Amino acid sequence: MKKILVLGSGGQIGSELTVKLREVYGNSNVVATDLDVSRLTAQIKEDGPCLSCDATKAEQIAAIVKEHKIDAIYNLVAILSATAEKNPMLGWDVGMGALINCLEVSREYKAALFTPSSIGAFGPNTPLNGTPQDTIQRPQTIYGVTKVAGELLSDYYFKRFGVDTRSVRFPGLISYVALPGGGTTDYAVDIYYAAVKGEKFECPLAKGTLLDMMYMPDAIDAAIKIMEADPAKLIHRNSFNVTAMHFDPEEIYAEIRKHKPSFEMVYKHDPLKQQIADSWPNWMDDSAARQEWGFKPEYDLAKMTVDMLDKLSLKLK
Ligand code: NAD
Ligand code: SER
Repeated sequence: MKKILVLGSGGQIGSELTVKLREVYGNSNVVATDLDVSRLTAQIKEDGPCLSCDATKAEQIAAIVKEHKIDAIYNLVAILSATAEKNPMLGWDVGMGALINCLEVSREYKAALFTPSSIGAFGPNTPLNGTPQDTIQRPQTIYGVTKVAGELLSDYYFKRFGVDTRSVRFPGLISYVALPGGGTTDYAVDIYYAAVKGEKFECPLAKGTLLDMMYMPDAIDAAIKIMEADPAKLIHRNSFNVTAMHFDPEEIYAEIRKHKPSFEMVYKHDPLKQQIADSWPNWMDDSAARQEWGFKPEYDLAKMTVDMLDKLSLKLK
Protein backbone atom coordinates (compact mmCIF):
# COMPACT_ATOMS: atom_id res chain seq x y z
CA MET A 1 0.00 0.00 0.00
CA LYS A 2 1.18 3.51 -0.84
CA LYS A 3 2.50 5.66 2.03
CA ILE A 4 1.45 9.27 1.88
CA LEU A 5 2.54 12.51 3.54
CA VAL A 6 0.13 15.45 3.67
CA LEU A 7 1.62 18.90 4.35
CA GLY A 8 -1.01 21.42 5.52
CA SER A 9 -3.55 18.86 6.80
CA GLY A 10 -5.18 21.52 8.97
CA GLY A 11 -6.32 23.71 6.07
CA GLN A 12 -9.51 23.90 4.05
CA ILE A 13 -8.45 21.13 1.65
CA GLY A 14 -6.22 19.15 4.02
CA SER A 15 -8.89 18.69 6.67
CA GLU A 16 -10.97 16.68 4.16
CA LEU A 17 -8.34 15.28 1.79
CA THR A 18 -6.45 13.63 4.68
CA VAL A 19 -9.59 11.78 5.77
CA LYS A 20 -10.33 10.57 2.24
CA LEU A 21 -6.72 9.50 1.65
CA ARG A 22 -6.91 7.42 4.84
CA GLU A 23 -10.11 5.79 3.59
CA VAL A 24 -8.36 4.87 0.33
CA TYR A 25 -4.86 3.93 1.53
CA GLY A 26 -5.45 3.00 5.19
CA ASN A 27 -5.23 5.15 8.33
CA SER A 28 -1.68 4.18 9.26
CA ASN A 29 -0.36 4.88 5.73
CA VAL A 30 -1.25 8.58 5.66
CA VAL A 31 0.86 10.92 7.81
CA ALA A 32 -0.99 14.17 8.56
CA THR A 33 1.15 17.24 9.26
CA ASP A 34 0.82 20.98 9.68
CA LEU A 35 2.93 23.85 10.97
CA ASP A 36 0.20 24.34 13.56
CA VAL A 37 -0.99 20.88 14.68
CA SER A 38 -3.74 22.47 16.76
CA ARG A 39 -5.49 23.09 13.41
CA LEU A 40 -5.91 19.34 12.81
CA THR A 41 -9.42 18.03 13.44
CA ALA A 42 -10.03 15.60 16.32
CA GLN A 43 -10.77 12.87 13.75
CA ILE A 44 -7.45 13.39 11.95
CA LYS A 45 -5.58 13.34 15.29
CA GLU A 46 -7.32 10.14 16.41
CA ASP A 47 -7.31 8.11 13.20
CA GLY A 48 -3.65 8.01 12.20
CA PRO A 49 -0.14 9.44 12.48
CA CYS A 50 0.03 13.22 13.03
CA LEU A 51 3.16 15.32 13.24
CA SER A 52 4.26 18.92 13.30
CA CYS A 53 6.15 19.90 10.13
CA ASP A 54 7.28 23.29 8.88
CA ALA A 55 7.30 22.83 5.10
CA THR A 56 9.71 25.74 4.70
CA LYS A 57 12.32 23.52 6.42
CA ALA A 58 13.47 20.86 3.95
CA GLU A 59 15.09 18.74 6.67
CA GLN A 60 11.77 18.38 8.50
CA ILE A 61 10.02 17.07 5.38
CA ALA A 62 12.96 14.81 4.53
CA ALA A 63 13.04 13.26 8.02
CA ILE A 64 9.35 12.27 7.80
CA VAL A 65 9.67 10.98 4.24
CA LYS A 66 12.67 8.87 5.22
CA GLU A 67 11.24 7.51 8.47
CA HIS A 68 7.79 6.68 7.07
CA LYS A 69 9.05 5.49 3.64
CA ILE A 70 6.73 7.96 1.90
CA ASP A 71 5.78 7.30 -1.76
CA ALA A 72 3.71 10.43 -2.41
CA ILE A 73 3.53 13.93 -0.94
CA TYR A 74 0.41 16.11 -1.06
CA ASN A 75 1.80 19.63 -0.57
CA LEU A 76 -1.08 21.90 0.46
CA VAL A 77 1.03 24.68 1.97
CA ALA A 78 0.48 28.19 0.61
CA ILE A 79 -0.76 31.63 1.62
CA LEU A 80 -3.98 32.30 -0.29
CA SER A 81 -4.46 35.20 -2.66
CA ALA A 82 -5.97 38.02 -0.59
CA THR A 83 -3.79 37.32 2.47
CA ALA A 84 -0.63 37.03 0.36
CA GLU A 85 -1.36 40.38 -1.29
CA LYS A 86 -1.17 42.00 2.17
CA ASN A 87 2.24 40.40 2.83
CA PRO A 88 3.81 39.47 -0.53
CA MET A 89 7.14 38.26 0.86
CA LEU A 90 5.33 35.84 3.17
CA GLY A 91 3.31 34.61 0.19
CA TRP A 92 6.47 34.00 -1.79
CA ASP A 93 8.52 32.49 1.07
CA VAL A 94 5.84 30.04 2.17
CA GLY A 95 4.48 29.07 -1.27
CA MET A 96 7.82 28.72 -3.03
CA GLY A 97 9.73 27.56 0.06
CA ALA A 98 7.36 24.63 0.62
CA LEU A 99 7.35 23.72 -3.07
CA ILE A 100 11.09 23.76 -3.70
CA ASN A 101 11.65 21.72 -0.52
CA CYS A 102 9.05 19.18 -1.64
CA LEU A 103 10.61 18.97 -5.10
CA GLU A 104 14.09 18.37 -3.70
CA VAL A 105 12.91 15.82 -1.13
CA SER A 106 10.82 14.07 -3.81
CA ARG A 107 13.86 13.93 -6.07
CA GLU A 108 16.08 12.49 -3.34
CA TYR A 109 13.58 9.92 -2.01
CA LYS A 110 11.76 9.19 -5.31
CA ALA A 111 8.37 10.30 -4.06
CA ALA A 112 5.53 11.53 -6.28
CA LEU A 113 4.33 15.08 -5.61
CA PHE A 114 0.95 16.83 -5.85
CA THR A 115 0.89 20.62 -5.37
CA PRO A 116 -2.30 22.48 -6.29
CA SER A 117 -2.13 25.42 -8.64
CA SER A 118 -5.08 27.78 -9.01
CA ILE A 119 -7.24 29.97 -11.22
CA GLY A 120 -4.90 32.57 -9.71
CA ALA A 121 -2.23 31.39 -12.16
CA PHE A 122 -4.03 33.42 -14.82
CA GLY A 123 -4.10 37.18 -15.26
CA PRO A 124 -5.98 40.01 -16.94
CA ASN A 125 -4.68 39.30 -20.44
CA THR A 126 -5.64 35.60 -20.31
CA PRO A 127 -8.79 34.78 -22.34
CA LEU A 128 -11.53 35.11 -19.69
CA ASN A 129 -14.15 32.82 -21.21
CA GLY A 130 -13.33 29.20 -21.92
CA THR A 131 -9.78 29.82 -20.66
CA PRO A 132 -7.70 27.25 -22.57
CA GLN A 133 -5.46 24.67 -20.91
CA ASP A 134 -2.38 26.20 -22.53
CA THR A 135 -2.61 29.99 -22.71
CA ILE A 136 -1.15 33.32 -21.56
CA GLN A 137 -0.27 33.31 -17.83
CA ARG A 138 0.72 36.77 -16.63
CA PRO A 139 -0.91 37.04 -13.15
CA GLN A 140 -0.68 40.31 -11.25
CA THR A 141 -0.81 38.91 -7.71
CA ILE A 142 2.09 37.42 -5.72
CA TYR A 143 -0.10 34.33 -5.24
CA GLY A 144 -0.40 33.98 -9.01
CA VAL A 145 3.31 34.55 -9.51
CA THR A 146 4.07 31.69 -7.08
CA LYS A 147 1.54 29.46 -8.84
CA VAL A 148 3.02 30.04 -12.32
CA ALA A 149 6.56 29.61 -10.98
CA GLY A 150 5.38 26.46 -9.20
CA GLU A 151 3.86 25.01 -12.36
CA LEU A 152 7.07 25.67 -14.29
CA LEU A 153 9.34 24.29 -11.57
CA SER A 154 7.20 21.18 -11.20
CA ASP A 155 7.34 20.51 -14.96
CA TYR A 156 11.09 21.19 -14.86
CA TYR A 157 11.66 18.61 -12.09
CA PHE A 158 9.63 16.07 -14.05
CA LYS A 159 11.52 16.61 -17.31
CA ARG A 160 14.98 17.16 -15.83
CA PHE A 161 14.97 14.68 -12.91
CA GLY A 162 11.99 12.40 -13.56
CA VAL A 163 10.14 13.49 -10.41
CA ASP A 164 6.49 12.41 -10.76
CA THR A 165 4.92 15.84 -10.29
CA ARG A 166 1.21 16.32 -11.03
CA SER A 167 -1.16 19.17 -10.36
CA VAL A 168 -4.52 20.83 -11.00
CA ARG A 169 -5.53 24.47 -11.18
CA PHE A 170 -8.28 24.47 -8.56
CA PRO A 171 -11.03 27.06 -8.81
CA GLY A 172 -12.61 28.53 -5.66
CA LEU A 173 -13.40 25.62 -3.33
CA ILE A 174 -16.58 25.47 -1.28
CA SER A 175 -16.74 23.33 1.85
CA TYR A 176 -18.14 23.10 5.38
CA VAL A 177 -15.44 21.34 7.48
CA ALA A 178 -12.67 23.97 7.74
CA LEU A 179 -13.05 27.64 6.94
CA PRO A 180 -11.22 28.98 3.88
CA GLY A 181 -7.78 30.44 4.43
CA GLY A 182 -7.99 34.03 3.15
CA GLY A 183 -8.67 33.79 -0.57
CA THR A 184 -10.64 35.87 -3.03
CA THR A 185 -13.27 33.16 -3.52
CA ASP A 186 -13.99 32.77 0.24
CA TYR A 187 -17.26 34.70 -0.15
CA ALA A 188 -18.83 31.62 -1.78
CA VAL A 189 -18.28 29.73 1.51
CA ASP A 190 -19.08 32.62 3.85
CA ILE A 191 -22.46 33.18 2.17
CA TYR A 192 -23.65 29.71 3.26
CA TYR A 193 -22.56 30.28 6.87
CA ALA A 194 -24.50 33.58 6.91
CA ALA A 195 -27.59 31.91 5.42
CA VAL A 196 -27.58 29.10 7.99
CA LYS A 197 -26.92 31.48 10.91
CA GLY A 198 -29.77 33.72 9.74
CA GLU A 199 -27.44 36.69 9.25
CA LYS A 200 -27.43 39.30 6.49
CA PHE A 201 -24.52 38.60 4.12
CA GLU A 202 -22.15 41.39 3.05
CA CYS A 203 -20.73 40.36 -0.32
CA PRO A 204 -17.20 41.67 -1.04
CA LEU A 205 -17.46 41.11 -4.82
CA ALA A 206 -19.72 43.01 -7.20
CA LYS A 207 -22.75 41.70 -9.04
CA GLY A 208 -21.63 40.13 -12.33
CA THR A 209 -18.25 38.90 -11.02
CA LEU A 210 -18.06 35.43 -12.56
CA LEU A 211 -15.63 32.91 -11.09
CA ASP A 212 -15.04 29.17 -11.42
CA MET A 213 -15.95 27.12 -8.34
CA MET A 214 -16.02 23.50 -7.14
CA TYR A 215 -17.50 21.62 -4.18
CA MET A 216 -14.88 19.98 -1.96
CA PRO A 217 -15.85 16.32 -2.64
CA ASP A 218 -15.08 16.88 -6.33
CA ALA A 219 -11.78 18.60 -5.48
CA ILE A 220 -10.72 15.71 -3.24
CA ASP A 221 -11.69 13.23 -5.92
CA ALA A 222 -9.65 15.17 -8.51
CA ALA A 223 -6.57 15.28 -6.27
CA ILE A 224 -6.59 11.51 -5.74
CA LYS A 225 -7.58 10.64 -9.30
CA ILE A 226 -4.79 12.64 -10.94
CA MET A 227 -2.20 11.00 -8.68
CA GLU A 228 -3.55 7.54 -9.61
CA ALA A 229 -3.77 8.34 -13.35
CA ASP A 230 -1.88 6.25 -15.87
CA PRO A 231 1.26 8.34 -16.57
CA ALA A 232 1.32 7.13 -20.18
CA LYS A 233 -1.94 9.02 -20.77
CA LEU A 234 -0.75 12.35 -19.36
CA ILE A 235 0.15 14.87 -22.04
CA HIS A 236 0.11 17.68 -19.46
CA ARG A 237 1.25 17.55 -15.85
CA ASN A 238 1.51 20.94 -14.15
CA SER A 239 -1.22 21.96 -14.13
CA PHE A 240 -4.64 20.89 -15.40
CA ASN A 241 -7.60 23.28 -15.54
CA VAL A 242 -10.45 21.78 -13.49
CA THR A 243 -13.83 23.32 -12.78
CA ALA A 244 -17.35 22.24 -11.84
CA MET A 245 -19.45 25.41 -12.10
CA HIS A 246 -19.19 29.16 -12.45
CA PHE A 247 -21.49 31.83 -11.06
CA ASP A 248 -21.63 35.43 -9.88
CA PRO A 249 -22.85 36.57 -6.42
CA GLU A 250 -26.44 37.05 -7.64
CA GLU A 251 -26.67 33.45 -8.87
CA ILE A 252 -25.44 31.82 -5.65
CA TYR A 253 -27.66 34.19 -3.63
CA ALA A 254 -30.71 33.24 -5.74
CA GLU A 255 -29.92 29.53 -5.33
CA ILE A 256 -29.69 29.83 -1.53
CA ARG A 257 -32.94 31.84 -1.43
CA LYS A 258 -34.78 28.91 -3.03
CA HIS A 259 -34.22 27.17 0.34
CA LYS A 260 -34.09 30.24 2.62
CA PRO A 261 -36.45 32.83 1.13
CA SER A 262 -35.84 35.42 3.88
CA PHE A 263 -32.04 35.38 3.43
CA GLU A 264 -30.63 38.83 2.61
CA MET A 265 -27.43 39.83 0.79
CA VAL A 266 -26.02 43.35 0.42
CA TYR A 267 -22.85 44.44 -1.36
CA LYS A 268 -19.88 45.71 0.67
CA HIS A 269 -17.16 46.28 -1.87
CA ASP A 270 -13.64 44.99 -1.15
CA PRO A 271 -11.38 46.71 -3.73
CA LEU A 272 -8.48 44.27 -3.29
CA LYS A 273 -10.60 41.14 -3.75
CA GLN A 274 -12.50 42.75 -6.64
CA GLN A 275 -9.29 43.60 -8.45
CA ILE A 276 -8.01 40.05 -8.01
CA ALA A 277 -11.32 38.46 -9.06
CA ASP A 278 -11.51 40.65 -12.16
CA SER A 279 -8.12 39.35 -13.27
CA TRP A 280 -9.17 35.68 -13.01
CA PRO A 281 -11.09 33.62 -15.61
CA ASN A 282 -14.89 33.69 -15.84
CA TRP A 283 -14.75 30.01 -16.70
CA MET A 284 -12.01 27.60 -17.74
CA ASP A 285 -11.96 24.90 -20.38
CA ASP A 286 -11.09 21.70 -18.49
CA SER A 287 -11.37 19.27 -21.40
CA ALA A 288 -7.70 18.22 -21.09
CA ALA A 289 -8.32 16.93 -17.53
CA ARG A 290 -11.46 15.13 -18.68
CA GLN A 291 -9.66 13.50 -21.62
CA GLU A 292 -6.29 12.69 -20.06
CA TRP A 293 -7.35 11.30 -16.66
CA GLY A 294 -11.14 11.20 -16.55
CA PHE A 295 -11.93 14.26 -14.42
CA LYS A 296 -15.71 14.34 -13.93
CA PRO A 297 -17.22 16.50 -11.16
CA GLU A 298 -20.57 15.52 -9.65
CA TYR A 299 -21.80 18.72 -8.04
CA ASP A 300 -23.37 21.72 -9.76
CA LEU A 301 -24.59 24.83 -7.93
CA ALA A 302 -28.04 23.39 -7.13
CA LYS A 303 -26.76 20.04 -5.79
CA MET A 304 -23.95 21.67 -3.82
CA THR A 305 -26.33 24.19 -2.22
CA VAL A 306 -28.63 21.46 -0.90
CA ASP A 307 -25.66 19.61 0.63
CA MET A 308 -23.92 22.73 2.03
CA LEU A 309 -27.11 23.93 3.74
CA ASP A 310 -27.82 20.45 5.18
CA LYS A 311 -24.28 19.91 6.45
CA LEU A 312 -23.89 23.42 7.87
CA SER A 313 -27.28 23.23 9.60
CA LEU A 314 -26.05 20.12 11.42
CA LYS A 315 -22.63 21.64 12.16
CA LEU A 316 -23.96 24.95 13.52
CA LYS A 317 -26.92 23.45 15.44
P1 NAD B 1 -5.35 26.79 3.79
O1 NAD B 1 -4.82 28.17 3.96
O2 NAD B 1 -6.74 26.52 4.23
O3 NAD B 1 -4.42 25.73 4.50
C1 NAD B 1 -3.02 25.79 4.45
C2 NAD B 1 -2.46 25.01 5.63
O4 NAD B 1 -1.05 25.11 5.56
C3 NAD B 1 -2.88 25.58 6.99
O5 NAD B 1 -3.40 24.55 7.82
C4 NAD B 1 -1.59 26.17 7.56
O6 NAD B 1 -1.48 26.04 8.98
C5 NAD B 1 -0.56 25.32 6.86
N1 NAD B 1 0.75 25.97 6.77
C6 NAD B 1 1.03 27.29 6.57
N2 NAD B 1 2.35 27.50 6.55
C7 NAD B 1 2.91 26.28 6.73
C8 NAD B 1 4.25 25.81 6.81
N3 NAD B 1 5.29 26.66 6.70
N4 NAD B 1 4.47 24.49 7.00
C9 NAD B 1 3.43 23.62 7.11
N5 NAD B 1 2.15 24.00 7.08
C10 NAD B 1 1.90 25.31 6.88
O7 NAD B 1 -5.18 26.42 2.24
P2 NAD B 1 -6.10 25.47 1.34
O8 NAD B 1 -7.28 26.27 0.92
O9 NAD B 1 -6.29 24.17 2.01
O10 NAD B 1 -5.18 25.35 0.05
C11 NAD B 1 -4.26 24.30 -0.13
C12 NAD B 1 -3.59 24.47 -1.48
O11 NAD B 1 -4.61 24.52 -2.51
C13 NAD B 1 -2.81 25.78 -1.65
O12 NAD B 1 -1.72 25.55 -2.50
C14 NAD B 1 -3.80 26.69 -2.35
O13 NAD B 1 -3.16 27.69 -3.10
C15 NAD B 1 -4.50 25.72 -3.27
N6 NAD B 1 -5.79 26.19 -3.71
C16 NAD B 1 -6.81 26.35 -2.83
C17 NAD B 1 -8.05 26.81 -3.27
C18 NAD B 1 -9.20 27.02 -2.33
O14 NAD B 1 -10.24 27.57 -2.76
N7 NAD B 1 -9.10 26.60 -1.08
C19 NAD B 1 -8.22 27.10 -4.63
C20 NAD B 1 -7.14 26.95 -5.50
C21 NAD B 1 -5.94 26.45 -5.04
N1 SER C 1 -9.53 30.17 -3.38
C1 SER C 1 -8.27 30.62 -3.81
C2 SER C 1 -8.09 32.07 -3.52
O1 SER C 1 -9.07 32.77 -3.67
C3 SER C 1 -8.08 30.40 -5.29
O2 SER C 1 -6.82 29.94 -5.52
O3 SER C 1 -7.02 32.50 -3.21
